[in-house]
Amino acid sequence: MKEYVRISDLKNHIGEEVTLAGWCYNKRSSRKLHFINVRDGSGICQVVAFIPSLNEEQQQLCDTLNQEASLIVKGKVKKDDRQIGGYELEMTDIKVLSNTPDYPISPKEHGTAFLMEHRHLWLRSRRQHAILRIRHHLVAAIRNFFNQNGFINVDAPILTGNAAEGTSTLFETDYFDQKAYLSQSGQLYMEAAAMAHGKVYCFGPTFRAEKSKTRRHLTEFWMVEPEIAFMELDSCMELAEQFVEYIFQTVLKECREELEFLGRDISKLENIKAPFPRVSYEEALDLLEKFKNENLNSEDEEMRRLAEDVLKNGRGDDLGAADETVIGMTYDKPVFIHRYPAHVKAFYMKDDPENPGKVLCFDMIAPEGYGEVIGASEREADYDVLVGKIKAHNLSLDAFSWYLDLRKYGSVPHSGFGLGVERAITWICGLTHVRETIPFARMMDKIWP
Ligand code: 4AD
Ligand code: MG
Repeated sequence: MKEYVRISDLKNHIGEEVTLAGWCYNKRSSRKLHFINVRDGSGICQVVAFIPSLNEEQQQLCDTLNQEASLIVKGKVKKDDRQIGGYELEMTDIKVLSNTPDYPISPKEHGTAFLMEHRHLWLRSRRQHAILRIRHHLVAAIRNFFNQNGFINVDAPILTGNAAEGTSTLFETDYFDQKAYLSQSGQLYMEAAAMAHGKVYCFGPTFRAEKSKTRRHLTEFWMVEPEIAFMELDSCMELAEQFVEYIFQTVLKECREELEFLGRDISKLENIKAPFPRVSYEEALDLLEKFKNENLNSEDEEMRRLAEDVLKNGRGDDLGAADETVIGMTYDKPVFIHRYPAHVKAFYMKDDPENPGKVLCFDMIAPEGYGEVIGASEREADYDVLVGKIKAHNLSLDAFSWYLDLRKYGSVPHSGFGLGVERAITWICGLTHVRETIPFARMMDKIWP
C-alpha cells in the first residue's frame, strides 16, 4: 500500500517532503502563486504552488483544477500558524486523479432543501464534517461510559413482534405469513437481558412512523438504552445525570475545535454538570402557568407566541414542544421532569404508590430550547398489575407473553432510560434542526439519498 501522510499528522513532518492524497477544497490564484486548500478527511492544508517553477503539465493541472477534484500533491511541510490547520505545503508535484468541471455545491450559499438533496456530497463541507466528527466522539463516549461502569452491551432485534412505545408510530412490514414491526425501542429486550446480566445497554437504530414534520423528529434515529436490575427511579436519575455530564464533558474536551468552528457557545456546555434540577410534573405545570400569565401580553413576539402555545394540551395531558422549550429556558442545566400522568406514558411504567394516577418516570429536558433528550422509567415488576396495564392500553396479551414471563420468574425492581443520540448532537452542536446530525436523515418526506 502506498503511504500518504495525513494532514492531521503534518506536525510530525515539518521540513520534510511528503505526499498528500485528497480533494481540492478551494483554490485561489495570483500572478505567481496558486493557493490550493487540500482536504483529506483528517484536516485541511494550504498547498502553495509557485507558478514559475512548474512545468507545463503541472501548470495546466493547477490552472484547470476545480473544487472537489481528487488529487495527489507532493511538497515540503512548513509550519505557519496563520494558515488553516497551522501548516503549509510548498508544492513540488501534483497529479489529478479526477477533475470536477460541474461540482454542484459551490462555496456560495445554498438552501437547505438543495443541500439535503445533495447530502452525499454535502457531507464533505467543513460544517458537516465537524458535526459528524462530533457524532463519532459522542458515540465513543457513550460506549466508554457504560463499558467503564460495568454494563454489558446486548444488541436488541430490529424486527419485532410488539409495540413498545404505542401503536401510532409503528412501521409495519410483511414477515412471511405474519406481521412484523421495525423496533421503536430495544427496552423490552433489555429488560430480559438485565435479568441475565444485571446492567446492560443496547445501542442501535430505532424507528418511528412520525407523521409530523418537526425539527426534532426523524423516522430512523439512534438510541442508547441502559437497563439495570434492582435500580429504582431516583438512582436511575442519578445515573442519567452522571452519564450526560460525562458524554458532554468528554466531547467538549475532544472536539473543542469543531465546536468552535460551529460557533457553539462553549460556556453553555461547560455548565452541563450534575446535579440537574428535578421538577415534578405538577410543579412543571405551575411553572408553565406562571410563564403563560407573565408573557401573554409580552412586547417580545417570540415570548408572546410561546405563551400562547404553552399548556395547549391542557393540565393533566402530555407536555408539548412549547412546554419543553419554556422549561428548558428556565434553567441553565438539563431538567428532570418526573412522575407524569399514567395515561400519557407507555404501558410498562410502574405506578407511583404515593401519587395515584402518576407513574414513576422522568424525561430529561435540555436547556436552550432543545427539548426532550431522555425518556426513562422504573418498570412495572408485578405480574398482575402489568397484565392490567397491557389490557388497559388495548395491547395483545399474547404478543407480550414472553415479556410477562420476566415478571413470573424472578421479578425484581428495575429501571432504565433511552437517550436519543441525534437530539443530543443537535443540542451539543447548537443546531436548529435534527436532520444535520445523522449522515443520511430519514424523515416523513425524506428517504433519498
Ligand atoms: O421517550 P422515548 O419514546 O422512550 C423510549 O423509547 C424508552 N423505551 C426508552 C427507555 O426507557 N429505554 O424515546 C427516548 C428518546 C427521546 O427522549 C428522544 O431523545 C429520542 O429518544 N426520540 C427521538 N429522536 C429523534 N426522532 C424521533 N422521532 C424520536 N423519538 C424519540
Ligand atoms: Mg419520550
